[in-house]
Amino acid sequence: MGFSRKIALVLALCMAILHFSHEDEQSGNQPEEYSINAHSGIRRVLSACPSAGTSQQAILDAHNKVRKEIPGLEPMTWNASVAKFAEEYASERKKDCGLVHSDTNIYGENIATGAGAMTILDAINMWVSEKDDYNYETNSCTPGKMCGHYTQVIWKNSTTLGCALSNCVKNDGIFITCNYYPPGNFIGTKPY
Ligand SMILES: *[C@@H]1O[C@H](CO)[C@@H](O)[C@H](O)[C@H]1NC(C)=O
Ligand SMILES: *[C@@H]1O[C@H](CO)[C@@H](O)[C@H](O)[C@H]1NC(C)=O
Repeated sequence: MGFSRKIALVLALCMAILHFSHEDEQSGNQPEEYSINAHSGIRRVLSACPSAGTSQQAILDAHNKVRKEIPGLEPMTWNASVAKFAEEYASERKKDCGLVHSDTNIYGENIATGAGAMTILDAINMWVSEKDDYNYETNSCTPGKMCGHYTQVIWKNSTTLGCALSNCVKNDGIFITCNYYPPGNFIGTKPY
């Protein structure tokens, strides 16, 4: 089988699976992540898909719902070149699933690792939950807590993004990265 036929097959499978998981979501009784978890074989196929189990629209919605809470923030849009960087870095971390940042200074970067059931949406929700510990007035975080993932999500100037997930070879783990352009999270600067 030729290379381009293989790619076409994978993409066709991706689209079929995303279509079905979307239908599950719409029927309201089976969230996307469960329908995918039920079939680890499908998860392997999904690992080759552009955004592995969470659609670009779902990724954008999860960010923009949070940005909408703040007056004057533009919604984020998908950026293919940022997504390409995210894909490349996620596949680099496949080997160890390390919670390690890339050394990019071109992009902002939120990362997460987890067990084999984790989705990109789970990671975004986890980052956004830091909101409870962030105080905008003082631009500070509850001591001992982390807020920098949340502030990247609501960074005013970060208006494009790309996310990727990889299935690690180690412990059936998951590595997730979302990258943002222009980057945010400059120490001492308020996010908006
Ligand atoms: C997408 O990201 C690239 C950097 O990878 C940047 O040069 C480009 O301007 C971005 N696109 C938009 C619409 O901001
Ligand atoms: C956004 O970009 C403008 C123009 O470069 C800059 O003045 C401002 O400080 C930036 N804001 C944040 C929150 O990064």
